[in-house]
Amino acid sequence: MIADFKGKTAVLTGAASGFGLECARIGARLGMKLVLVDVQADALEQAAAEVTALGASVMARQVDVSDAAAMQALAQEVQAGFGAPHLVFNNAGVGSGGLIWENSLADWEWVMGVNLWGVIHGVRVFTPMMLEAAQKDPHYQGHIVNTASMAGLLTPPNMGIYNVTKHAVVSLSETLYQDLALVSDQISASVLCPYFVPTGINQSERNRPASMAEETPSKSQLIGQAMISKAVGSGKVSAAEVAQKVFAAVQAGQFYIYSHPQALGNVQQRMEAIVTGHNPPDPFAARPEVGAQLRQALREI
Ligand SMILES: NC(=O)c1ccc[n+]([C@@H]2O[C@H](COP(=O)([O-])OP(=O)(O)OC[C@H]3O[C@@H](n4cnc5c(N)ncnc54)[C@H](O)[C@@H]3O)[C@@H](O)[C@H]2O)c1
Repeated sequence: MIADFKGKTAVLTGAASGFGLECARIGARLGMKLVLVDVQADALEQAAAEVTALGASVMARQVDVSDAAAMQALAQEVQAGFGAPHLVFNNAGVGSGGLIWENSLADWEWVMGVNLWGVIHGVRVFTPMMLEAAQKDPHYQGHIVNTASMAGLLTPPNMGIYNVTKHAVVSLSETLYQDLALVSDQISASVLCPYFVPTGINQSERNRPASMAEETPSKSQLIGQAMISKAVGSGKVSAAEVAQKVFAAVQAGQFYIYSHPQALGNVQQRMEAIVTGHNPPDPFAARPEVGAQLRQALREI
């Protein structure tokens, strides 16, 4: 929980686009010092110029969040430049689709690297620094927000790696919340679980590292990509609205942050199947035509 953001420091990963950029804009308007972290240099430069023009003190760093050493170096720079951050938004992420046995090793390594290891590193390098600040100053308040997804609470088919990473981020974040509560009343955590929101997530391949060999996508990957693109593109809630919810949740000390609370019925059905021992429910129960289309597309030669 952070009562007042003015003059506080926020570290935001994936800050050059989507939710990260919208949170940077809000942080700048609230008078925060901003550390913008992203792997895409041109977009990062543009984001830094924009929030600097809003009056924020900005440190912009091109860092791949999956790189442990680079994240460690980032933490040291933040400590030296601004001191312990108050808000850490571990948000960088990439999308991926396809039948779970068709994803290549490179797909697994890339998506797990950004979506899961990126959050692990953010938590590893910043939490001790924040705890130290809390010990030194009884007025210090810190908060960590990790971006998961509704795919961290559901298991939509044909996007398995993404689901795996986001379920892990929900688990990591819930544990972080509980662990922090054991040791401090000054630092807490939240998890952001958005549903489909128009951002750059459906063009994630733009930031796939050259070292993670690009393979010809399989049919199921192409179908998955088209479906995700359509769903993201037609989302009605904006990234700016989601960013507002993030700040409101941090101020209120609210753990679960949803962009589309109306989609939680699906989570309830999944939980009911788990506790009653029923098989996983039909993910397309509300929109059977979408399921029929996907089954047909995947079975066509
Ligand atoms: N948009 C949605 O519908 C949606 C839904 C659920 C969850 N999410 C999650 O929200 C988060 C933010 O995504 P977004 O929707 O704003 O997409 P986005 O593509 O607009 O923003 C993601 C940012 O992360 C950066 N990034 C990618 N790989 C990186 C790396 N290795 N290191 C550092 N930065 C990297 C990208 O350059 C980009 O600026 C992601 O974790 C995503 O999985 C998005």
